[in-house]
Amino acid sequence: MRKPMIAGNWKLHKTVEEALDLVEALKDELTGIDDADIIVAPVFTALGKVAETLSGSNISLAAQNCYPEKTGAFTGEVSPMLLKDIGCRYVIVGHSERRQLFGESDEFINRKIHSLLEEELQPIFCIGETLEERENGRMYDILTRQVKEGLKGMEAAAMRNIVIAYEPVWAIGTGKTATDEQAAEAHAFIRGLLQGVFDQETADATRILYGGSVKPENVDGLMAQDDIDGALVGGASLKAPDFARIVRFKRN
Ligand code: PGA
Repeated sequence: MRKPMIAGNWKLHKTVEEALDLVEALKDELTGIDDADIIVAPVFTALGKVAETLSGSNISLAAQNCYPEKTGAFTGEVSPMLLKDIGCRYVIVGHSERRQLFGESDEFINRKIHSLLEEELQPIFCIGETLEERENGRMYDILTRQVKEGLKGMEAAAMRNIVIAYEPVWAIGTGKTATDEQAAEAHAFIRGLLQGVFDQETADATRILYGGSVKPENVDGLMAQDDIDGALVGGASLKAPDFARIVRFKRN
């Protein structure tokens, strides 16, 4: 019922030329796959050229961030309207690097999600606890706060266009993946939260991705878990063969 989604978050990597080489290789490797949504999120400067190259392919384009206003005196920012204009369909919001390095609050992330939905763009909404929060037994409180505040004011129907990504901060870029059981437990908890905030049908229909050191070697075990509907991939999305293998995770 929930179509798998594999999204590559390129973070601050790749010139335009390098980005084009990577998407050309991905197009070749991933031809014909239609049982999963495939997404790449290059840096802003590569979006336009990558959009042209992806046109007509089975790979969709995402941006890594946005500012929650259409236009105005916001030097250095990029709005959902402009991202849509250039061919994006998805935008990553609430990534832990933005929360930690750029001080983004739940309230600011909530504004971004609303502004993306207004432009009919689909947010990939990231949540996740730090190691300290997990060790102090605060993981469930943190996830509850991030979900409730991040999705404040959202109608159940809007959830059709929102994807959640659970990314334990201690697993991002560290090579330490959550075990299949740890990830499954967090995903089941998040789905339960969605049921409480919205309803069972909405909880059942919402896609929840796992992120944090997803690699060709561990993707099959993660994807075999009932509540894991896809992956948000950082490091391993920068090499075409690795990302392609992740997209080709073992189907049940
Ligand atoms: P990683 O990054 O796969 O390199 O751990 C994941 C992410 O930050 O989205």
